Amino acid sequence: MSDRPAATREPVRSVLVCIPTYNERENLPRVVHRVRAAVPDADVLVLDDSSPDGTGEVADELARADEKVRVLHRPGKEGLGAAYLAGFAQGLAEGYDAIVEMDADGSHQPEQLPLLLEALDEADLVIGSRWVPGGSVVNWPLHRKALSVGANLYTRVLLGMGVNDATAGFRAYRGSALHAMGLQDVASQGYCFQVDLTRRAVRLGLRVVEVPITFVEREVGDSKMSRDIMLESLQRITGWGLLHRAGQVRRVARREPRWHRL
Ligand code: GDD
Ligand code: MN
Repeated sequence: MSDRPAATREPVRSVLVCIPTYNERENLPRVVHRVRAAVPDADVLVLDDSSPDGTGEVADELARADEKVRVLHRPGKEGLGAAYLAGFAQGLAEGYDAIVEMDADGSHQPEQLPLLLEALDEADLVIGSRWVPGGSVVNWPLHRKALSVGANLYTRVLLGMGVNDATAGFRAYRGSALHAMGLQDVASQGYCFQVDLTRRAVRLGLRVVEVPITFVEREVGDSKMSRDIMLESLQRITGWGLLHRAGQVRRVARREPRWHRL
C-alpha cells in the first residue's frame, strides 16, 4: 500500500458508527448496546430501509433511550451501498473525524472496534479483515467461505490491489478520506460497494491497513446476500478490472519514460 507520513494525520476525536439494517429487529438492540459499551464516546447512526419487520421502530426506541443513538429512516430497500452513502453524507456534513461501517447482525464484534480505531491513527482506511493472519470466520458454511475467498481472489487478480479482504464490511474511514473519494458518483448498490470504496482509496494513494478480525455468522435472521447482489459484484469488478488492465496496456504501449530506462 502507498504511504503518507503518519505525522500528517490529525487525531481522531469524533466517531460515527453507521449500522445499516433490513429486518434486524432482534439483532439491533444487542449490537447497539455492545457498541455503546465498547466505544462509549462514539455516536451511532442506524440506517434503516423501512424494514417490514419493524426494525425502524425498534431503532427509534433505542434512540429515545440514548442521546448518542440516532436513526436515518429511508423510504425503501435500495441496497447496502445507498444506505451507507446516505449515512456517510450525514456524518461528513456533521464533521465527524471518523466514520465506521458495521453490520447489525453481530457478525462484526463491537469489542474489536477499538482495534480498528487505534489503527486509524496511522491510516486513512482500516479494514477489519477475515483473510489476513489472525483473522477468521466462525460458523460460515463452506459455500459462503468459498464465495468470499473466490470474490477476493478475483478482485485481487483483476484490480491488482494488495488488499486481502476487499469485500469486508467492518471498516473505519477517516472523514478526510471519504471526502477525497468522490462519493457522489458511486453507483454500487449492493455489497460490491465495499470493493468500490477500497478501490477508490487505493487509487488515491490513501493508506489502507487491514486488521485481523473474527467474523461470527449471525444466529438470528437471514443474510440479504442474493443472486442479484452477486451478479452486480461480478459485473462491476470485471468492469473495473478491464479498465485497470487496459490502462496498464496503454502505459506500456506509450512507452512511458520509465520503460525506456529499463
Ligand atoms: N439499510 C439496508 N438496506 N441495510 C441492508 C441492506 C439494504 O438493502 N442489505 C443488507 N443490509 C444490512 C443487513 O441488515 C446487515 O446489517 C448488513 O447490511 C449485512 O447484511 P447481511 O445480509 O448480514 O450480509 P452478509 O453477512 O451476507 O455479508 C457480509 O459479508 C459480505 C461479503 O464479505 C457483510 O459483512 C457484507 O458487508 C460483506 O460485503
Ligand atoms: Mn450477516
